[in-house]
Amino acid sequence: MVNKSFHITTYGCQMNEHDSETIAGMLLERGYTRAEDQKSADIVIFNTCSIRENADNRFLGTLGQLKKRKVASLKDLTICVCGCMMQQPQVVDEMKEKFPWVDVIFGTHNIHEFPELLEKYFAKNKRQRSVWEEHGEIVEGLPCDRLFRHKAFVNIMYGCNNFCTYCIVPYTRGRERSRKPEDIVNEVRRLAADGVREIMLLGQNVNSYKGVDADGVQRDFTDLIYMLNEIEGLERIRFMTSHPKDLSDKLIQAFVDCKKLARWIHLPMQAGSSAVLKRMNRRYTREQYLELVRKLRAAVPDIAISTDIIVGFPGETEEDFEQTLTLCEEVRYDSAFTFMYSIRRGTPAEKYEDQVPEEIKHARFDRLVETVNRISIEKNAAYVGRTEEILVDGPGRNGEENFGGRTNTFKLVNFEGTPDMVGKKFMVKITDSNTFSLVGEVVSEV
Ligand code: 5AD
Ligand code: SF4
Repeated sequence: MVNKSFHITTYGCQMNEHDSETIAGMLLERGYTRAEDQKSADIVIFNTCSIRENADNRFLGTLGQLKKRKVASLKDLTICVCGCMMQQPQVVDEMKEKFPWVDVIFGTHNIHEFPELLEKYFAKNKRQRSVWEEHGEIVEGLPCDRLFRHKAFVNIMYGCNNFCTYCIVPYTRGRERSRKPEDIVNEVRRLAADGVREIMLLGQNVNSYKGVDADGVQRDFTDLIYMLNEIEGLERIRFMTSHPKDLSDKLIQAFVDCKKLARWIHLPMQAGSSAVLKRMNRRYTREQYLELVRKLRAAVPDIAISTDIIVGFPGETEEDFEQTLTLCEEVRYDSAFTFMYSIRRGTPAEKYEDQVPEEIKHARFDRLVETVNRISIEKNAAYVGRTEEILVDGPGRNGEENFGGRTNTFKLVNFEGTPDMVGKKFMVKITDSNTFSLVGEVVSEV
């Protein structure tokens, strides 16, 4: 029995959250225990993100602060770093130089190796650094310690082939590969049997999922949705992220046919100007994007749509930026993640000469946030007076009786509740709204 506790700090996206669940699962299986917080942990793990420069900087700052504790503890504190940043060779070199006291480094392709690396480190008292440049076969059957009992992330594919010119993900997560449909279906069956009501299917571009059955039949993403829709006990299916260029009419029809498919889609638009989209290598135009939104709303009138938007991409003019604002006004997003373009080493856009000055990026960012928030407020206000079906996630932030859950359309609702409500569905009357959430009163259990 290992007598050591661990703590994981996760940066970035759901993919990383899910990887951290796997890391925790593997450690718990081997007898390690979860520490209450980072301070009391024997093993401190950082799962890093490299999507934007400030993510890198934030992490390096945190790591720097740990040095004192590491030195004071001599051998007792073990520090491990993994995730997307470790797939960038220059970052690992920089780490070796600046933070030589990091004990274990591994990458996104060899998470399954981590327990062995850790054991080797303890046995030999020798630093372990193992980052695979290329991905290997998909490793199935790894344990997972879920964040929630009643909802779960399910990876359906790994990697990305799109090479949007600003993005580092294709370099840190490798090429697209899909899990076998039966592996996914079996996992979801097991989850449903274990009390999971809602799943979030994960992939950088779920729309290009291509899985091959045991009998050689190829299944696309929509086929997979229809298969999962049949699983008993499962109530809601969500997915992210969709690339607009691969969003098929077949998938739009699945929203109509599959009762479990939740009425929400995350559809990153990135920019409203077709000229900028072209330089981003997004492979759709403003008009094509708007046409998709029109089709989605024709099929599912109250579907909620969220998005990602980048401002200040190289060469973005004032007119280009205004097209992003008008696109937001036309689509009327329920919510939007907004980002200032940040140069990523090794991506094509790093070399673009017409970089937008920082102060212009900031000014445009503020204008964009003002627009998307105003629209979110209006969209949320329209929910007031409606009664919505909520799956209760857990306690909210404001005191003991405050609970939070999500509508089918992924709106966060806070209401007064009790701990036994977690994981169950309730009809909740919406009484008030904010920019990012709703407030409600429980009417009845579903
Ligand atoms: N700069 C700013 N935002 C970026 N994103 C990806 N790369 C960058 C970058 N270099 C944003 C995109 C993507 C989201 C996950 O992060 O909007 O959809
Ligand atoms: Fe990055 Fe584009 Fe792939 Fe998304 S689709 S992960 S933005 S390269």
